[in-house]
Amino acid sequence: MKRAFVIGHPIAHSRSPLIHGHWIDTYRVDGSYEAIDVAPAALPDFFERLKGGEFVGGNVTIPHKEQVVALVDELDPLAEEIGAVNTLVLRDAAGVRGFNTDYMGFLGNLDQNAPGWDQGLDEVVVLGAGGASRAILVALKSRAVGKIHLLNRTVGKAEDLAIELGGPIACGGLDEFAARAGGARLIVNTSSVGMKHTRFEGLDLSVVPADAVVTDIVYVPLVTPLLADARQRGLRTVDGLGMLLHQAVPGFEAWFGVKPEVTPELRALVEATL
Ligand code: ATR
Repeated sequence: MKRAFVIGHPIAHSRSPLIHGHWIDTYRVDGSYEAIDVAPAALPDFFERLKGGEFVGGNVTIPHKEQVVALVDELDPLAEEIGAVNTLVLRDAAGVRGFNTDYMGFLGNLDQNAPGWDQGLDEVVVLGAGGASRAILVALKSRAVGKIHLLNRTVGKAEDLAIELGGPIACGGLDEFAARAGGARLIVNTSSVGMKHTRFEGLDLSVVPADAVVTDIVYVPLVTPLLADARQRGLRTVDGLGMLLHQAVPGFEAWFGVKPEVTPELRALVEATL
């Protein structure tokens, strides 16, 4: 039987076992997927277990996504650019290869739920410049976006990220939203604002073009205040749960050899736990 895992610390709240368990049942795969609590100091020992052949691979979550970059034998170029790994695959001779599937989750979610979102994508506004922002900026750059306005509470952090990643990224503060969002086809929140129903104070969505899409990576609550405001304005919205579901697809395919589908049934299953 092929065994896969998610490691984190703590790990009890991870939805990944539910997602992969559903696919293991659906596709009748001879496999398992388990949540394992691994403290940061125990990470090298866990890697030895992985290299020893106990598992085919697994997911990595908080707080290990950056630390494992140094532990893998091979790093996917996009994971290197993002600077974080969330998916590990054991390759017999080559050892453990690290990927980052968050950017694929972001793109897969928009492709499924806002078809055509990237047609003639001139301008995008990205809110937040933390760890989650990196994967999304790399994803957007892969879809030929004309200009990214990266707005963050701390402008210096946005500037550091823009210099590091390169590309058409213009930085500013959150208070510049109204001045920057007038031509945006996509607004993305990558920050933690929205959790516990928090909201961006003073963010004026009335300047956003009527055909723009607004998406949030926060999925608890599923409808964040930002998405609720956008819906009220009649804008198309895509919630963050789809990103969680879609980021799981490439890992499952690599470990078990079946490309799984993100279905309404799976979504309902996970949504019931939020
Ligand atoms: P993650 O890795 O999940 O992205 P992070 O690196 O701590 O987490 O980044 C959190 C992001 O949310 C940052 O962009 C942060 O802004 P700062 O860089 O100014 O800290 C943003 N953020 C968190 N709380 C915020 C708030 N109350 N208002 C605006 N932005 C906030």
